[in-house]
Amino acid sequence: MWHGRFKHDTAKIVQDFTQSLDIDFRMSEHDIKGSIAHVKMLGATGILNQDEANKIEAGLLKVLDEIKSEKFIPSENLEDVHMNIEARLTELEPLGAKLHTARSRNDQVATTTKLYLRDKLLQIREELFNLLETILNNADKHINIIIPGYTHMQQAQPISMGHYWLSWFEAFIRDVKKLNFALETLNECPLGAGALAGSTLPINRFMTSELLNFKNPTRNSLDTVAQRDYMLDYHFFACEFILHVSRLCNDLINWNSQEFGWIILPDEFCTGSSMMPQKKNPDVLELSRGKTGQIIGNMIDLIINLKALPMTYDRDLQEDKRGLWSSIDTVESIIKILIPLLSAVEVNQDLALKNLTEGYALATDIAEYLVMKNVPFREAHLKVGKLVGFCVENNLKFQDLNITQWKNFIPEFDEELLKILTPEQSIKRRNVYGATSPEQIKLQISEGHERLNNLI
Ligand code: ARG
Repeated sequence: MWHGRFKHDTAKIVQDFTQSLDIDFRMSEHDIKGSIAHVKMLGATGILNQDEANKIEAGLLKVLDEIKSEKFIPSENLEDVHMNIEARLTELEPLGAKLHTARSRNDQVATTTKLYLRDKLLQIREELFNLLETILNNADKHINIIIPGYTHMQQAQPISMGHYWLSWFEAFIRDVKKLNFALETLNECPLGAGALAGSTLPINRFMTSELLNFKNPTRNSLDTVAQRDYMLDYHFFACEFILHVSRLCNDLINWNSQEFGWIILPDEFCTGSSMMPQKKNPDVLELSRGKTGQIIGNMIDLIINLKALPMTYDRDLQEDKRGLWSSIDTVESIIKILIPLLSAVEVNQDLALKNLTEGYALATDIAEYLVMKNVPFREAHLKVGKLVGFCVENNLKFQDLNITQWKNFIPEFDEELLKILTPEQSIKRRNVYGATSPEQIKLQISEGHERLNNLI
């Protein structure tokens, strides 16, 4: 394309090194979409005559057909998807030589990437909605199932499994908002920024922007070809999402182990061991957790690429897509597999309760009961702490204590206290907004459905 300026052809080894076809060919249909909008605009503004514009558009549609039917054979000698499509177009329709009027690959690659990214993000958002629905269904299914809640990896207070699921609803709905933000930042059309400074030709940037469904053309041509912040915003979403996934997966892996044991994973989503016949391993959850580094690494890769990069386009930017694709593919595959896996998770209520009743997770309930009897909380905390210490030393559970032992530590003790000292009561009585009572969970589930509908 640039042989006018050169005496010698580009060396083959340089062609191989500089090509980006292996990375950018997946955007071929979006590249054609951008070119069609561009040529329509060239026709409408009279830069090309209408007949020329129509012929180029028809040629582009032919190339599109070839791509869709996999007849198109791109060549790495032509460097990237953009040059390949233009070259094939010009073979089919010599007027193709006019397509690149008032355009550079710098504004073109930004446009094509934004179009591709927008479609991908909308697909991911759709899948995220399905994941959120799954979580709401799980919350509903497990509303009355009681599990130990942990802080510091120590049993803290009983919680409803439904409440646990809803904690992930909050996390993933924040991710949807991040994704929406990424969709918003890419919503400006780069076409017409040219190589960096715009064009001397009387193009209509508002028209191409509208044809491609962007909100408006970008406002500064230098920034347009230099920036990749719209990709960063996707990466920020992806990192937050994978951090959430890694924590969720880790909980389920732990609670599925023999030491905890109350989570039952579906056979279809586990794998066995080649050596140990008894093994049923949570590999899908482990692999999802194990992909965290790749997603975060892809974000860091782009951040380092952009650091101190001179205004405006530099070829370094061609390296922006490898990690982006990898991250998108990984996020998509994780959401797709988590939906059926999570919806099949079962809870063994007996095992979860056994864990709980053997501990002292109801200690706060006793302290709060004393507060209702007008004991200052600090004093109540001290009394119950001493009671727990006595129990631990003598290997006793709360339910093993006789009335004298109770009264020794807690003079305010009465039969009422014993009635509330069950995991069921503990959960039911935590009835403040956002807490773990079945009543609150029901409210959060119905609000959750509404919030999802408002986001769609
Ligand atoms: N393949 C290139 C990329 O993805 C297209 C832009 C090349 N621009 C240039 N001035 N050499 O970034």
